[in-house]
Amino acid sequence: MKEKHMVTGAFGYSGSYIAKELLSKGYEVLTLTNSSKENDRIKKFPLSFNNKDMLIESLKGVDVLYNTYWVRFNHKNFTYADAVKNTKILFDAAKKANVKKIVHVSITNPSEDSELEYFKGKAELEKELKQSGMEYSIVRPAVFFGGSDILINNIAWSLRYLPVSGYFGKGEYKIRPVHIKDFAMIVVNEGNGHSSRTVNAVGPESYTYKELLKMISKTIGTKKMFMSIPPIIGYITGYFIGLYKRDVFITWDEIKGLMQGLLYTNSEATGSTKLSVWVDNKKENLGRHYESELAKRN
Ligand SMILES: NC(=O)c1ccc[n+]([C@@H]2O[C@H](COP(=O)([O-])OP(=O)(O)OC[C@H]3O[C@@H](n4cnc5c(N)ncnc54)[C@H](OP(=O)(O)O)[C@@H]3O)[C@@H](O)[C@H]2O)c1
Repeated sequence: MKEKHMVTGAFGYSGSYIAKELLSKGYEVLTLTNSSKENDRIKKFPLSFNNKDMLIESLKGVDVLYNTYWVRFNHKNFTYADAVKNTKILFDAAKKANVKKIVHVSITNPSEDSELEYFKGKAELEKELKQSGMEYSIVRPAVFFGGSDILINNIAWSLRYLPVSGYFGKGEYKIRPVHIKDFAMIVVNEGNGHSSRTVNAVGPESYTYKELLKMISKTIGTKKMFMSIPPIIGYITGYFIGLYKRDVFITWDEIKGLMQGLLYTNSEATGSTKLSVWVDNKKENLGRHYESELAKRN
């Protein structure tokens, strides 16, 4: 039995669900974070990539490190290249601190050959972890739903408040969402056993993007015309929504990743919650408020 569990970003999105799942099992939970939030039950240490000795010290005695750290896009204050470099520092610090296992959160379909920095960087980190000699589990979700997630919530928001609804190109590319609580259970299960391996975190339903828009629209009761839009028009529209909301609504890489079907895998479901059932349960409030990535970081 592994007892002392360190989660990066236990006050962030997925990290908070992982921490809750660990606490419910009676484990000691610590976190590496730069968040100002507090929780009496979770001891907090700085996520200080500039001070590796401090990271090593924070990780001493830890049995399992759950790594959720990543950035969603390149920005003046953070980049994918920083996230790759910093994650390597974290892996090395964990090794030097004799952490017994790393459970690392990746993404479906990472590839070193990808033109997309997100998927390329994730592949580079998977390789680094596999070569580190440490025991590991790599967990690959496609897209989360069930909490304050960006994609599903902001699709619902745009269906409620934008005059028209569009899908990029033909809208036939698929996505495979997983409920955030199912994801946390999968991750914690990986922390508690199994020799080194890679697992997908995917729910029981998959949708083409067009089907997803229609399902959400019908369930939340918005009567919309759907139309195909050229991806570049979708990107420019998203850019202006981002300016209006002081956020980054969608990036060009995210549109490409979506259209390349990278948020889909046909592997066996590892989560059980259906997106359609969850949307139905949340239909009164889903998408009433815009979820801002940048607001979370201020
Ligand atoms: N969201 C999805 O739908 C989705 C889909 C597939 C894969 N994933 C993967 O799941 C993992 C967790 O995603 P999440 O949505 O739960 O992330 P999150 O809570 O927003 O962030 C997770 C961690 O990354 C740190 N972080 C995030 N953005 C940062 C920035 N700009 N600068 C510095 N630190 C930053 C946070 O630090 P603090 O604790 O200091 O805030 C936290 O430790 C990521 O590896 C992501 O690639 C997510």
